[in-house]
Amino acid sequence: MQRERSEALFERARAVQPGGNTRHMVVFGPPMVYGSHGDGCRLTTVDGDVLIDWVNNFSTLIHGYGHRPTVEAVKAQAERMLCCILPSEAEVELSERICARWPGAEQIRFMNSGTEAVMVAVKGARALTGRSKVAKSEGGYHGQYDLVEASFLPTPDNWGPADRPASPAFGRGTPQSLLDQAVIFPFNDLEATLAILEAHAGELAAVVIDPIPARLGFVAADKAYLAGLREFCTKHGIVLIFDEVFCGRAGFTGAQGRLGVTPDMTALGKVIGGGLPIGAVAGTRAAMAVFDNLAGPLKVSHSGTFTANPMSMAAGIAALDALTPEAFAQLERQGDALRAGLQKHFEALGLTMRANGLGSMTSLQLFREPARDYRAFHSRSGPGYLQRIGRLHALMLQEGVLTATRGLMVGSTAMTDDDITETLERSGKALARFAQAERSAA
Ligand SMILES: Cc1ncc(COP(=O)(O)O)c(C=O)c1O
Repeated sequence: MQRERSEALFERARAVQPGGNTRHMVVFGPPMVYGSHGDGCRLTTVDGDVLIDWVNNFSTLIHGYGHRPTVEAVKAQAERMLCCILPSEAEVELSERICARWPGAEQIRFMNSGTEAVMVAVKGARALTGRSKVAKSEGGYHGQYDLVEASFLPTPDNWGPADRPASPAFGRGTPQSLLDQAVIFPFNDLEATLAILEAHAGELAAVVIDPIPARLGFVAADKAYLAGLREFCTKHGIVLIFDEVFCGRAGFTGAQGRLGVTPDMTALGKVIGGGLPIGAVAGTRAAMAVFDNLAGPLKVSHSGTFTANPMSMAAGIAALDALTPEAFAQLERQGDALRAGLQKHFEALGLTMRANGLGSMTSLQLFREPARDYRAFHSRSGPGYLQRIGRLHALMLQEGVLTATRGLMVGSTAMTDDDITETLERSGKALARFAQAERSAA
């Protein structure tokens, strides 16, 4: 693979960007590979390589590149206005569409990223309850807001006892006073979780959980577990927040519709913006009343220069309109075919690996038995995980299959069944070389 132009860009980037990038989550190499343009599920790099894109900008481009209705809607909106200080019809339309789908969405407010969505949901929950603590599951990723970064990617040296996890900082210098506001509970262990939450019940504003976390390889929380959280939060007047920024693509009615448990608030992002920057907090009328400036003195303020900007609204409307139940059925079928085909490769090559996930979300894992929580995922992945998964990523890239650095693959409606077959052929070659590398490393 020729990387001359990428190498030259990376050299220039290093002079003006620390590390030669402005987005740590997507870093591999060096050098980074630079994107040029896309068409359907294919992304062409500046070096002219054509990759089957299984990341879709971390899930946002659920219709792939150049989705005509989205492109036309964005063009038309750009002609009308990029943004203005008045609200637009488009924001009402997108609100109506989302509220018609997610069971827990009776009302909604927009922002510009998933990070902001989680942050605003937490602020709303605090204002609603008058309490400050926030509980989140161990290892969960909820964006860059430092409170919910507590216990993101903890390790055995800082994660504390299994039934009472610690809340280690992710970023150096995070105030201890902030970390003390985070209560960490073990994902999918109802008894231990309730014991922890019970001890803080009177201080908790919110319980935040991603019901199908990407970082745990898209293992879904058990319905009974989520129902237990639901019951507990209702009993204690705590706001239950689902972070569906990523897993909102789990189905026509979101992850909550698929899993059958309804939160008070939902943080949304990615697919609802059709590829443009977006975030949203949706919730029940009772929970969202906290943002109602017509209902008396304001309890919490929410604004933003680009909030509900009409470009993102227009793209979101077009993308959601094309996300029909039939489109989800296709994503589901192709996701199942991908996982089954990968699993066959693992077995044929003697690789102790697993293709986990559901619907359009797949995770390549370096172990066979499913992991139900963060600690199992971490310990089964093993000490050499980052190096090994990095090698697999590089080999897939060489075969023209773009995955996320930690082995995540998310599909798009732009994929045909032939694209799945081609992905499996190419992945088979990459996995054969990976198996060879694993044998020589052993
Ligand atoms: C579950 C989850 N929450 C929050 C975020 C943050 O969203 P954004 O990157 O738009 O700030 C992400 C991003 O990947 C996510 O996966």
